[in-house]
Amino acid sequence: MKKLLVVMGSPRKGENYKALERLESCLNKIEPVETEVIFLSQMALSDCVGCHRCILEGEDKCHQAQKISHLLSKMAEAHGVILATPVYNQHVTALMKKLLDYLSYLWHRPALFGKPFFGLSSGGGMFKNVFKALKTNVESWGGFWAGELGVPHYESLTPKYQKKVDIDFTKKARQFMKAMNQSQTLPKPGLGQLMMFNIWKMNALVCKDSNPTDFQHWTEKGYFEKDYYYSTRIGWLKKVTVRLMAAMARSFMRKVYVDY
Ligand SMILES: Cc1cc2nc3c(=O)[nH]c(=O)nc-3n(C[C@H](O)[C@H](O)[C@H](O)COP(=O)(O)O)c2cc1C
Repeated sequence: MKKLLVVMGSPRKGENYKALERLESCLNKIEPVETEVIFLSQMALSDCVGCHRCILEGEDKCHQAQKISHLLSKMAEAHGVILATPVYNQHVTALMKKLLDYLSYLWHRPALFGKPFFGLSSGGGMFKNVFKALKTNVESWGGFWAGELGVPHYESLTPKYQKKVDIDFTKKARQFMKAMNQSQTLPKPGLGQLMMFNIWKMNALVCKDSNPTDFQHWTEKGYFEKDYYYSTRIGWLKKVTVRLMAAMARSFMRKVYVDY
């Protein structure tokens, strides 16, 4: 039985919830899933006050730390996580954006390595920004982007497009289930991910006095001596390319910022 966690960014049980029920039913046809839905509206995170304490002093210093660590432990227990949000103003809802803000410290100190995440949206269209924002965050937290599905208002579609949506649900459910089944194997990082690792490595070192929490974390994890967050075989060509790109990034940073 697969444990599925859904983080619901819609303030109501509307179209996005309907889409979730359909996806869940498609997943169940492949393999049984046990779903828990966390409604961000009920989680009632207060506004981020911009204190930076999560980043600079540690996530346990955040004024919403209890709620956030509870959610993260649920994510850790789940085989897969669905981030659900309708399109609001061509982006995620404010509820979802607030969560992304609270998890910003994970860009500095990623923790969700290999966890499969799936993006589920509803709206008239314009899903591009929604999924771009979700995917970028998930990958920066260390997670694996297992796919996405934007669901237009079903009743307003022509039969031809309804059929397309039906097929999409089945296809995407298969894709997400496959990712959940493979989540024990950590994925090979792409060039972009290797590059980001090097940029965060550079930042952690340069900002060791202004951000001792990052520096301590990177030191304790041994990241300064590593090519990536976890052991993985990286081909020599990729290694050389990343080193070259990292050197270019550093030289650019030197021109703009002090201490680099
Ligand atoms: C404040 C607000 C902004 C919206 N902005 C967009 C938008 O930019 N693009 C779009 O396609 N739909 C937009 N919509 C429509 C919703 O995305 C759509 O109705 C969605 O299915 C609602 O999901 P829900 O029923 O779970 O609330 C907006 C709706 C609201 C309430």
